[in-house]
Amino acid sequence: MIETIKINIKPVSTSKLSQIDFNNIDFGKVYSDHMYIADYYNGSWQDFRIEPYDMLSFTPGSAILHYGQSVFEGLKAYRGESGEILVFRPEMNFRRINKSAVRMCIPEVTEGIFMEGLTELLKLDKNWVPDLPNTSLYIRPYIFALDEYIGIQPSKNYKFIIFTCPVGPYYSKPLKVKIETEFSRAVQGGTGYAKAAGNYAGSLYPAMLAQQKGYDQLIWTDGATHQFIEEAGTMNIMFVIGDKLLTANTGDTVLKGITRDSVLTLAREWGMEVEERQIPVTEIVEALQKGEVQEAFGVGTAATIANIELIGDDQNDYSLPSIKPDSFSSKILKELDDIKTGKKEDEHGWIYKI
Ligand code: COI
Repeated sequence: MIETIKINIKPVSTSKLSQIDFNNIDFGKVYSDHMYIADYYNGSWQDFRIEPYDMLSFTPGSAILHYGQSVFEGLKAYRGESGEILVFRPEMNFRRINKSAVRMCIPEVTEGIFMEGLTELLKLDKNWVPDLPNTSLYIRPYIFALDEYIGIQPSKNYKFIIFTCPVGPYYSKPLKVKIETEFSRAVQGGTGYAKAAGNYAGSLYPAMLAQQKGYDQLIWTDGATHQFIEEAGTMNIMFVIGDKLLTANTGDTVLKGITRDSVLTLAREWGMEVEERQIPVTEIVEALQKGEVQEAFGVGTAATIANIELIGDDQNDYSLPSIKPDSFSSKILKELDDIKTGKKEDEHGWIYKI
């Protein structure tokens, strides 16, 4: 039973909605009218409210600005066939933000704080959920530390915020990716499995170096040996080789992606052989050399399915076959889209209707 919480709502006096061209929305650059905020102080979450999306104010000494004690989530809402608002697997994000929070010494939020805030925010901003093909409302819950203190210790004050952005595709074309064998995203015992802000900051420099060489993103390998494939950019990565769907097993260093879980679930139901295990870089490079990799793609909430057209190692670039409508990644993308927009029956209980 989810507890009820009292949320004070202060709506905008004038919506920005009429200024938005939904046919041309860049990912993450347009923000809906409202945000949901909760404050943590005196040992508990309180002051639940929805306010106009606006500037925040906190002091230059705030812990988040110095030490990055912050975790976040990403999920999406879609418009169903008859206009209803459908959110994809939000309870998974609720569970994962708390898992990340525990790792970063951040107080967990209750299901009521997460789900009721999300629900009320989406009710208020329902008209911001786009209905054009390949669009959705990206939802960003996050928690960050607010103590005004320059020593290192877990903060005693935090903010939990949810805001939303109508979005189009995250990537507009198939990706060229480089297998990274110098820098690491995550190590055993580190924070790789958490959606901790610093994981993403640390990935920028290696990604920038790869971009200077003409790649779009990196394939991350394990931090100890760089011999095993882990993730791609900000996504999990999957390969189709023969009849098999292959992806790295999760653990300390690989994020337990919700899109990852959804794709694997559907693939198994379709009778595909699925392997979640350590993937040696050499196995993928040999398969690329023999032309056996039919498909490689990133999976994540923002990108959903991001096809990879080229993989580079330190010596060579290998091109992948072009994606066709009957490729696995095309079929799974369509299946997911149909479930998310209510065109297909929600047999898995993945949809939360507002
Ligand atoms: C997501 O896929 O939601 C992510 O967290 C990626 C994000 C960095 C845009």
